[in-house]
Amino acid sequence: MRSLLIRKVEQWEIYDRMSGHGIYADTDKKFLPTERYDWTLLTEIELFKNAVKGCKRVLDIGCGTGHPSLYLTKDVGSIIGIDKSEKMIEIAKNKLSRSGAVNTSFEVGDAENLRFRKGSFDAIILCGSLATFSDQEKALREIKRVLKMNGKITCIELNWLYRSTHERHFQGEGNFVLTQEDSITYRYVCRSTYPHKETDYRCIISPKSVLGKKLLSNSQFRKRKTLTTEMDIEQVKPFCDEIEYDEQVQFDPQTIARLFAENGFTDINVEGYGIVYDLLTNADLVGEMASRMKEVCKAEINISRFLDPTKTEMLFLTCNPDSTASNEKSQESKEL
Ligand SMILES: C[S@@+](CC[C@H](N)C(=O)[O-])C[C@H]1O[C@@H](n2cnc3c(N)ncnc32)[C@H](O)[C@@H]1O
Repeated sequence: MRSLLIRKVEQWEIYDRMSGHGIYADTDKKFLPTERYDWTLLTEIELFKNAVKGCKRVLDIGCGTGHPSLYLTKDVGSIIGIDKSEKMIEIAKNKLSRSGAVNTSFEVGDAENLRFRKGSFDAIILCGSLATFSDQEKALREIKRVLKMNGKITCIELNWLYRSTHERHFQGEGNFVLTQEDSITYRYVCRSTYPHKETDYRCIISPKSVLGKKLLSNSQFRKRKTLTTEMDIEQVKPFCDEIEYDEQVQFDPQTIARLFAENGFTDINVEGYGIVYDLLTNADLVGEMASRMKEVCKAEINISRFLDPTKTEMLFLTCNPDSTASNEKSQESKEL
């Protein structure tokens, strides 16, 4: 009987593979004002700057290739960036050596098992990393442990509510690709709304299976080498030799606030941002504003205070450890 190999990959492994590509490449990023993503990155830096300015010791968990640590060096006493991906850290270190900052360092580390002592940091930054941690609750307990009692945590995440209404193919769409003679892969991204979970499947179709034979005898598929389908993963699974997948639990304003509250944090404030770009696009003002990036980002931050975070693309959360809560979970974690 044919055996099917199924493997779950952790998010940090995916980032390890991605390092060296796109925004995770070893480049000294010069923000390109016409690209939507750069715009968001600049706004993020401004938001973090406002939040951690003047803090003595800052920890950036899931720092990737150094964003945003490398942009905050002049605003804080010192900053350490950690990431579970060795390759991401290698790139961050290369960028750091070119930057000349002396109060910053990068090292490999695990959010769920931090090497630091209790109360080591004045502020902790999570820039898009919380959703990628395998055990988010464990990471938050560790964060609470290493944060000073009057310390601050700041966190940026994608807003699931925005994604669910604005992304094409939100419910999932599959794609067969003919990679070489008689080798077919199948990619299927599947999203569930409650809980907000995204699962990304990458499969190898058996060329000898009924589906494999059917695809290989399809002249259009052979010509175009790609075929979009509504078949979901369960329908394709019986024809696979191998399946690799990764999972991410994501947030909306309520679920992210609840996660922090349940893990010993208080004064939780969630703001939305990232929507100004849409407004500018609709008003056909992107070109004009491109030359005035700094003002645009500042305006975006100011406007965000008035936006309903259920309608924005990104979420910015700040909170403090709750010194009054007798949080059993955090007491279980190591004291030193
Ligand atoms: C979305 S990326 C964000 C990277 C960077 N902060 C940025 O904004 O470009 C998430 C990062 O979290 C890292 N990560 C995932 N799980 C981790 C863990 N348990 N401990 C430390 N880093 C982790 C990944 O390797 C990845 O580099």
